[in-house]
Amino acid sequence: MVDIDWDNLGFDVTPTKSMFRATCLENSKWEHGGLIPFGNIELSPAANVLNYGQGAFEGVKAFRTAKGNVVLFRVDKNAARMAFSTKRLCIPEMDTDFFIDAVTKVVKDNIEYVPPHGQGSLYIRPVVWGTSAGIGVKPASEYTFMIFVTPVGPYFKKGINPLSLKITSQFHRAAPKGIGNIKAIGNYSASLYPLTEAKKEGFDEVIYLDAAREEIIEEVGSANFFIFQDGKIKTPSLSGSILGGVTRDSVCLVAREILGISVEETDIYIKDIENSDEVFCTGTAVVVCPIGRVTFKGKTHVINKNTMGPITKKIRETILSIQNEEIKDTHNWLRHI
Ligand SMILES: Cc1ncc(COP(=O)(O)O)c(C=O)c1O
Repeated sequence: MVDIDWDNLGFDVTPTKSMFRATCLENSKWEHGGLIPFGNIELSPAANVLNYGQGAFEGVKAFRTAKGNVVLFRVDKNAARMAFSTKRLCIPEMDTDFFIDAVTKVVKDNIEYVPPHGQGSLYIRPVVWGTSAGIGVKPASEYTFMIFVTPVGPYFKKGINPLSLKITSQFHRAAPKGIGNIKAIGNYSASLYPLTEAKKEGFDEVIYLDAAREEIIEEVGSANFFIFQDGKIKTPSLSGSILGGVTRDSVCLVAREILGISVEETDIYIKDIENSDEVFCTGTAVVVCPIGRVTFKGKTHVINKNTMGPITKKIRETILSIQNEEIKDTHNWLRHI
């Protein structure tokens, strides 16, 4: 057995046994690759990704379920999004079967690192980079795809206690017609300064507005945004600058089809937060996390007395119960390892 303190897992990197590595030349197909020991890699300082940020990644989770199985949650959606991201960044388009097969191989080889049932999950990080050396701004001639895994617990240190978020109009996450709708590594470097400033002020994360009008809410730095209002769940529609989250899609389906709550994908204005019964955010890492305070221009609005509301709780529990095989996986979201 591996020596890991399962009771105190945070969202950090724990080295594991192995990782997957494949390379591909431009204008070629992803078709070879295999497992290598987990460890550092070597790159030219002129590698495209290090200079021009030609890279995309994914985040997937594997769970040890109540039935004792190890399962992947909706990995086909991550594979499709990786194909979309790579295409937009001029990286050879990721083959979805190749992606799923590679994820499966890494998880199988690192199965001992999947936390015991109910004590976290194995976070899987597929990432692809332009790795050939070059100095002119152009797509790389060679690409490297890697997948590493690490056991994780809650994303936020405060666990599932409601988050305190700041709406910023000082910074934008993504421009219209930009790359906000793909999982480009550069999107996250742009979010670090606003996030660090917000944390210094005591907030957990930032809520971004649309860059064109600064009126409607787009998303949280690394999660999608939801409100529960007038008996309906509402989430910003995928305008082109929002990342289409796998959890966002799962929450919409769970709400509509399992819980019988209507869902609207629509514009959400800042003032809508004041008229919301519940506010939450969603993502692979955060799952479903309540938002208890939202601050804009120095004014703080407290939602549901800063506690997790019943709808947020129900949705969170339903998603977790599916992931853990505690209720029926009616949509075939689980892939057994
Ligand atoms: C910017 C952004 N939005 C939304 C999400 C949620 O996406 P998913 O549910 O696929 O993890 C993430 C996390 O991956 C993200 O980084």
